[in-house]
Amino acid sequence: MSDSHHTIEALFDEARTFPPPPELASRAIVQSDEIYAEAEADLEGYWARQAERVVWRERWSQVLDWSKAPFAKWFVGAKLNVTESCLDRHLANHADRVAYYWEGEPGDRKILTYGELHTEVCRLANALASLGVEKGDRVAIYMGMVPEMPIALLACARLGAPHSVVFGGFSAESLADRINDASAKVLITCDGAWRGGAVVPLKDMADDALTRTPSIEHVVVVRRTGSDVSMTSGRDVWYDQIVPDQPAQRPATECDSEDLLYLLYTSGTTAKPKGIVHSCGGYLVGAAASHSMVFDLHEEEDIYWCTADIGWVTGHSYVVYGPLANGATSVIYEGGPSFPDKDRFWDIVERYGVTLFYTAPTSIRTFMKWGESHLEKHDLSSLRLLGTVGEPINPEAWMWYRKNVGGDRCPIVDTWWQTETGGLMISPLPGVTTTKPGSATVPLPGISADVVDEEGRSVPLGQGGYLVITKPWPSMLRGIYGDDDRFVETYWRRFSKPEENRWVYFAGDGAKRDHDGYYWLLGRVDDVMNVSGHRISTLEVESALVDHPAVAEAAVVGRDDPVTGQAIAAFVTLRGDRVGDEMLIAELRDHVAGKIGKIARPASIVFTDELPKTRSGKIMRRLLRDISEQRKLGDVTTLANEAVVQEIAERAKSMHRADG
Ligand code: PRX
Repeated sequence: MSDSHHTIEALFDEARTFPPPPELASRAIVQSDEIYAEAEADLEGYWARQAERVVWRERWSQVLDWSKAPFAKWFVGAKLNVTESCLDRHLANHADRVAYYWEGEPGDRKILTYGELHTEVCRLANALASLGVEKGDRVAIYMGMVPEMPIALLACARLGAPHSVVFGGFSAESLADRINDASAKVLITCDGAWRGGAVVPLKDMADDALTRTPSIEHVVVVRRTGSDVSMTSGRDVWYDQIVPDQPAQRPATECDSEDLLYLLYTSGTTAKPKGIVHSCGGYLVGAAASHSMVFDLHEEEDIYWCTADIGWVTGHSYVVYGPLANGATSVIYEGGPSFPDKDRFWDIVERYGVTLFYTAPTSIRTFMKWGESHLEKHDLSSLRLLGTVGEPINPEAWMWYRKNVGGDRCPIVDTWWQTETGGLMISPLPGVTTTKPGSATVPLPGISADVVDEEGRSVPLGQGGYLVITKPWPSMLRGIYGDDDRFVETYWRRFSKPEENRWVYFAGDGAKRDHDGYYWLLGRVDDVMNVSGHRISTLEVESALVDHPAVAEAAVVGRDDPVTGQAIAAFVTLRGDRVGDEMLIAELRDHVAGKIGKIARPASIVFTDELPKTRSGKIMRRLLRDISEQRKLGDVTTLANEAVVQEIAERAKSMHRADG
């Protein structure tokens, strides 16, 4: 966190400001900043009003029950099925409105109206029910971005069966761990997925995982790439054999507001990913309200495109649940941004007339690197609002995005949030908030945040500290699946004062507020890296490395990277007299990819005879970060062996030279 301080500091006071564009402000969904005060004055009243966006079968007796804090209940006693908000309610007046324009990487296209989406969801729900899926059963989803993916999430929700989506870039082992942690009963997957012109062999990887997932009874396989895959009879069924003949109706299963809607695993500070628990009512209220207000959605006019994979929380909240609850028309694109050429995204924006565009800083920096010529080929004048999410956006990238994608006319909403928060937390409201490049601006109405010091005291404006959330919010995580203690320990122990009944959520991020009270996110303060907007635990990568027979010990840090935000730098000591060479580096990188997924493959590996440790044996990651970023080395006086550091620094330097 201290690393980013200098640049941020310098930018604070000289930051340019961009008031809301008048033409957007004059017809924005939120036009007055009074909404902040209204929410502040009556938090529960505010959220009860937002809850009117959702279709309820039975209303709540109490908006918030915080009596068992930090275990929250929102809209207590209310009954709903989230798919009635996302699908059924749209049938009466706009069944023909497009829900999704889907485009495959090879160029094939498909349109799903709300009416068609409803039918497809009911059919798959019927098929899953025929395979024995009942309310409460967990269903794992491991797919590429095909139309059947949002259908799969919604079909589970229709049955009240919580889904657990595992991003298609994760390895067989990661998939198996997540399936086992949740004891999932059914897996929905694809034969393969298109990515960058090649096939990701999802079913082969699933088969590998399925050798150690005793809870799985059936596997539903979507035919996408036509790859040759093995089907285990009695267990595996093709989607196109079991779904199309199902009845086109399926009554939605009634759920309690607090019933589990889904699990989504995310990396923390230990090697074991946590199953973040989201419930039905509060989650949908949070996702729908934030989607409408922050993206200024005019559902009858806008074409909205969030480029995130549904495998991540951004896809859950802002490709599936939020947009559908709001009746939005969205674009879903299956593949990579450079296939067949580096203008694929802009081609899509132009062809569909995308008005609202939401992507990650790492993509923006990649587009910067590729150059403006790819954008200039296309008419991007349909765009009227841009968003970013996933990591801090550097002001240069923000300005580039505004100028080259937004034609200097579109406001940018930099949205800070997390898997755990379920929905956006700190973000501009485009019709009222003046933005500054690099700042996520201020907490949304109904969200109470603060920046605190080590002791949990609010720090004055202009200073940095830990970002915390001081009041509960509807889409907050309800726990870590099967591990209440870890939930309390991870998020609530550090800054709460239970004896005063004061519960403070610790996000794991550093932040600084400027003199206007604007929040500047400074990155993680724990052992979590952020690589291309993906959260990866240093410990998880370390344990994948030491799992290799040649490795004795490993230390992993995230070093600054101009495109991916952070890159994974590993330091490894080898067993016995094993000698580290290029081949072993390649082998270790593959090993990590096999254990976790390609996104976790270290960018660099340095072999060393020893790791720098304190006298008490703790690995000094700070020093390794200094080495990786080729900074002057920090304080080494607490080191057990100072010479080690110099030696590693030399090796890392020669590696950087070799990298060019
Ligand atoms: O460090 C913050 C960073 O991403 C983390 C959350 O990661 P994940 O749960 O995977 O969710 C990503 C998408 C919501 C946060 O703890 N982060 C996310 N958005 C921003 C951000 N950092 C700075 N600015 C953002 N807008």
